[in-house]
Amino acid sequence: MIRKLSKALLFTSLLAGTSLMAEEAHYTKADRIKDMITMAEGMEQIQSGLLYRCKEGQCIIKGAEDIKSVLVHLKKVDPKDFLDAEQQYAHKFAQKRQLMLNMYLNEMLEELKRKDMDAVAHNYGLALRECTSCHMRLRPNK
Ligand code: HEC
Repeated sequence: MIRKLSKALLFTSLLAGTSLMAEEAHYTKADRIKDMITMAEGMEQIQSGLLYRCKEGQCIIKGAEDIKSVLVHLKKVDPKDFLDAEQQYAHKFAQKRQLMLNMYLNEMLEELKRKDMDAVAHNYGLALRECTSCHMRLRPNK
């Protein structure tokens, strides 16, 4: 019974995913590059904050929030449109990267509240690894 229910749930969520993809089909390469640049700037802001170049970690908060606001796109958009045929299985991989990024950024914000800068720096490093891990896999010719 529970199995059946979870299968039904899975199926509904797959369906929901499909219509979302159709809705987001207008997410172009230009949109993607723009989001990527927003994320790169966000990471720079966080780094500035770690080097105490802004008051009370304000740029860490701004950087993390900016990145989180575009991560939402990564979650919804199927990267199939920019992947080669043999890489299309990477959708799950890409979604995992955005989930992890979101988690590290949230942890970072909590640690900032506690003024635990060592932990913020640690999570910054982990977040950066999520960016590079995706780039190494999905931008192999760079
Ligand atoms: C889900 C995979 C994925 C993740 C996660 C990801 N990127 Fe990207 N990124 C890409 C892809 C794919 C491209 C190439 C886009 C294209 O050419 O269409 C790219 C391109 C870029 C570019 C180059 C934009 C340009 O001008 O060509 C920058 C900068 C960038 N990403 C920054 C980041 C940063 C910073 C992070 C982490 C906070 C990040 N990315 C996380 C997949 C990812």
